[in-house]
Amino acid sequence: MSDTAIININGEAFEFPIITGSENEKAIDIKKLRGLTGGVTTIDPGYKNTGSCQSAITFLNGEEGVLRYRGYAIEDLAEKADFLEVAYALIFGDLPSKPQLEKFENDIKDNSLLDVDLRKILEAFPKSAHPMGVLASLTSALTAFNPTSVDVSSDEAMYNAIVKIMGKFPVLVAWTMRKNKGLPLNYGDNSLGYVENLLQMMFSKPNETYKINPIIKDALDKLLILHADHEQNCSTSTVRIVGSSHAGLFASLSAGISALWGPLHGGANQAVLEMLDAILQDGGDTAKYMAKAKDKSDPFRLMGFGHRVYKNFDPRAKIIKVAAKEVLDDLGVDDPILEIAKGLEQEALKDPYFVDRKLYPNVDFYSGIIYRAMGIPTEMFTVMFALGRLPGWIAQWKEMRARKEPIGRPRQIYIGENLRAFKNIENR
Ligand code: CMC
Repeated sequence: MSDTAIININGEAFEFPIITGSENEKAIDIKKLRGLTGGVTTIDPGYKNTGSCQSAITFLNGEEGVLRYRGYAIEDLAEKADFLEVAYALIFGDLPSKPQLEKFENDIKDNSLLDVDLRKILEAFPKSAHPMGVLASLTSALTAFNPTSVDVSSDEAMYNAIVKIMGKFPVLVAWTMRKNKGLPLNYGDNSLGYVENLLQMMFSKPNETYKINPIIKDALDKLLILHADHEQNCSTSTVRIVGSSHAGLFASLSAGISALWGPLHGGANQAVLEMLDAILQDGGDTAKYMAKAKDKSDPFRLMGFGHRVYKNFDPRAKIIKVAAKEVLDDLGVDDPILEIAKGLEQEALKDPYFVDRKLYPNVDFYSGIIYRAMGIPTEMFTVMFALGRLPGWIAQWKEMRARKEPIGRPRQIYIGENLRAFKNIENR
């Protein structure tokens, strides 16, 4: 392939460099397009063909179903690392040494208290509030309680903001769930690891000792790792673009949480479970729902299927499918929903509609089944996704600031009215 691209506009040829990534991905560098052509721009709704940045964090090959963080295969990380090691690798560039990990973990623990006044904000929400809305609000509110985390112009200030949010976020996650369940708000136990502590904060009751189930802990660790980053998806792009205006880390993360909430993105895990439940309640007729998903006049989509980037099995879904079976077997849970899920998957994998469009199960198809077996309420599923994605958002935000990326500001093609005369209200 030549290392330049020629674009012909009205008979005039303009040449643009082609840049190559470390996995041989090619991109036409159109940074100078408007300047050279006198204002011609590109249009790409949903950014299906647009690279928004150069990034050294996550490599994804959707055609072959490959996902790597900092060069490490997701399969290895899910099997051999724990969530904090993966978070460190994403944020700081490589897996930590023992002392590096210890320092990171201790600094996070030192920052795991929340200002008691934050409770007042939480208490003002109705019990019925969706936990994602609460989480986004509380994350944004953290800025007010930690104003120094907004200015991250030094490495030290950046590090402090990172360990603060890594320490406080699990408490927010636990509190949003406890508030909905009417349980007293608690703090963690610094003698526990990150994931154990999260489980303890979520599930402990004031009148009994909470015993951590190692099977649940391992499965949750794996789920968080699998969700930890996914390059320039909707919420990550949101975090980067909000941060590109030099808004603070916590405000940018809050925007990312809102972006993740939607059912086409992170909200799909809740939507999948609700869909599987609805199919079960409706007699378990998967064929009926397959037909609905294929019917273009019906808005129903098979939730947990399809992906913007993967046109092959989502490698995360493969790992989660195995983990779901292990957790259910180990816990002795016989969930009829798993059978519905397997049935839908089998039918979809041989159905020409899904095969032709390369629609495979995605990360969210099986994750909800595990969360449910763990006793996590359905509307908390996307909150768990947000906790997993936190290090990825932080890493991407940090990279965006380190690369001194310009403020994100796409162009448009205006298709509205041309200049017209103003009419006084009585003439309209
Ligand atoms: N069920 C039925 N048809 C589908 C589905 C589905 N789940 N997904 C895509 N299609 C069809 C779609 O109708 C279109 O058909 P046609 O070419 O005939 O018009 C074709 O497949 C391409 O779909 P698209 O909407 O143009 O693809 P996209 O890249 O814009 O959307 C997606 C990707 C994930 C939003 C979409 O597949 C979807 O809505 N899936 C269900 C929601 C879901 O599971 N989301 C979680 C994504 S993974 C977690 C994450 O990263 O957030």
